[in-house]
Order: sequence, then structure tokens, then C-alpha cells
Amino acid sequence: MRKWLILRPLEQKEAPKPEPKSSVRPAAPEEHLPPVDLSVTLAGMTMKNPVVVASGTFGFGREYGQFYDLSQLGGICAKGLTLHRREGNPGPRIAETPMGILNSVGLQNPGVDAFVEHELPFLRQYDVKVIANISGNSPEEYGIMCEKLAEAGVDMIEVNISCPNVKAGGLAYGTKPELAAEVTEVAKAHAGKVPVMVKLSPNVTDITEIAKAVEGAGADALSLINTLRGMRIDVNTRRPILKMNTGGLSGPAVLPVAVRMVWEVANAVKLPILGMGGIAKGTDAAQMMLAGASAVAVGTALFADPYAPLKVRDELEQLAAQQGLSAVSQLTGGVRPW
Ligand SMILES: Cc1cc2nc3c(=O)[nH]c(=O)nc-3n(C[C@H](O)[C@H](O)[C@H](O)COP(=O)(O)O)c2cc1C
Repeated sequence: MRKWLILRPLEQKEAPKPEPKSSVRPAAPEEHLPPVDLSVTLAGMTMKNPVVVASGTFGFGREYGQFYDLSQLGGICAKGLTLHRREGNPGPRIAETPMGILNSVGLQNPGVDAFVEHELPFLRQYDVKVIANISGNSPEEYGIMCEKLAEAGVDMIEVNISCPNVKAGGLAYGTKPELAAEVTEVAKAHAGKVPVMVKLSPNVTDITEIAKAVEGAGADALSLINTLRGMRIDVNTRRPILKMNTGGLSGPAVLPVAVRMVWEVANAVKLPILGMGGIAKGTDAAQMMLAGASAVAVGTALFADPYAPLKVRDELEQLAAQQGLSAVSQLTGGVRPW
């Protein structure tokens, strides 16, 4: 009679636990993580958490305010303002790409006075830092806007010298160190006590040159990166998809470029940095902070998920807790380069 072999699982030896590859220890679901201080300070402005929404991706907050209480954010960078209202560029002005979007919105906005009169009072209902973002056609225009915004009492002014989608001003100032310095000086001279943060363009060969010029001119902080110039073409019509032919690339595709640039700038200047470009998750934000950012902004991710900034905040908090940090600010500059 045939004997049936009863196959038993081999005696399981306790497998040696591999050394953790990084210092990130995944938490057991039931593990109680200690509280983490989420507050950060950027050029003297303290925010309850490091997550800001990026200029131009959140309007003036009215639409997103229907989804959640805007007080949950660390800060709001409002849509870019110009001295006078602008219609922006003709459409199509948004085109999807495999890992992000191209936009050529062209600074459509109601003008600085309308912002002060109608939008700022709305934003002031919330316990959130308000950062006004400005673009000018001349250094003088930047000065006038700074004066108006400082008088209106915004928490910070973000000076955009890096918009790739407007013919005048914008990128022209952001790609030449002397012009970047001139705009910074004028902005500082008219902003009173309100801190001035200058937004840098990635469309340069060496971003640290511009960062140093802006630091030398007295800026209080830097934000980076703005969008990278890009283009898409319809192969059948042979027309570019965007009416302006080219636009600015943002979203997950630009994250590694942004992290690299934040790291380079953090090593070149002493100014605090608001890091942005492709952040959609807590680990993206953590990378940006490890590279040297004191706070982060979430932009394009909002278009797929309005709650993205809150998810980034919660995931960042969890990551910091898992790493045994008592404050999320301890991540800033913590990268260990080879
Ligand atoms: C539709 C759109 C409009 C934007 N408008 C502005 C703007 O008005 N001022 C500005 O400084 N940056 C503007 N940006 C750039 C973003 O603030 C941000 O620097 C960039 O998109 C990278 O971040 P992200 O990949 O998270 O979107 C805009 C970006 C997008 C996608």
C-alpha cells in the first residue's frame, strides 16, 4: 500500500532581521506615535504647519474653502497679482503631460487693488498666513505693489521674477542676477516690515547665481521652483497644444529638479527657503525639507485632489513621528550627501 507522504512545512527558523535600509521605520498600525511639533518659521513668520499652497493653483481660496477650513493650511500664496487687472493669455492654456501639466495662464488676475479690497478680507477670516504674490513690468511697479500690500497688512510678499508666461517682466528679471537684485532692492524698500520672499526660476543655468544676487539685495526668503519651460505639439495639426506655443511645466515630473535646486540654493545662501515643485505626498515634502527647505508649497497636486495639502501635512507628521523627531523642522537641511 502506498504511503502518502505528508508534506509539512519546513521548520521555520527565525530569519535574521535585515538592517533597516534607511532611518525611516514603518510604524505598526496600532503603534502610538508621539506628538510632533508641526510649526515652522519662515523669515520670522511662524506657521502652524509647513504646508502652503502654491501661487496660481489656489486662486484666492474661495473655491477650496468649500472643501475644508482654510485655517488648516500653514499659509496661502495667493494668485499672482499685477498692478492692473489682466485677462491672461488666450486658450488653450493648460495641457496635460504624462507627469504633470503645462500652463500658460499668463497671470490672469483682478489687480492688486481688487485683491486688497475683496480677496484679502475673505482670506483674513481664516487663521492662516497670507502671502501675496506679485509680478511687475518694471521695478517701479513692484515697488508700488509692495507698498499697497504692506499697508493692507499681508503676512509676506512673494516677488515673482520667474513667470515664463508673460512677455514683459517676469522671467526677464529672474534670469539675470543684476535685474533680480534690482527688483529685490526696490521691493524691500517699499515693503516696510513685511518680509519679502523672492521666487526663483528654474530656467537658468546656475540658480545659485540668482539666489546669491537676491540675498545680497536684502531678500528675507527664497521660494523655488517656478515652472520649467516646455512645449507640446499636436502631430496631426502640427500646432502646439498651447496657444502661446510654450508654457510652464509643473507637477510630479519636476520634483527631482526642484529638490536638486533647493539643495544647491540651500548650500549657497543663508536665506530660508519655501520649496515647491511636484509635491504630492508627505515623502515628497520630506525630501524637499531634507534638501534645505523650511516649508513647502503644494501646487499642481491640488488639481487632482483638493485635499492634497492636508494629506501632505498629515503624512509629513507621521513620517517625522516614525523617525522619532519631536519637530518637523528638524528635517530641514538634514540630507546626508555621499
Ligand atoms: C496653473 C498655474 C498657475 C500658476 N500661477 C503662478 C503665479 O501666478 N505666480 C507664481 O509665482 N507662480 C505660479 N505658478 C507656479 C506655481 O506656484 C509653482 O511654483 C509651480 O507650479 C511648481 O509647483 P507644483 O509642481 O507643485 O505645481 C503657477 C502654476 C500653475 C500650474
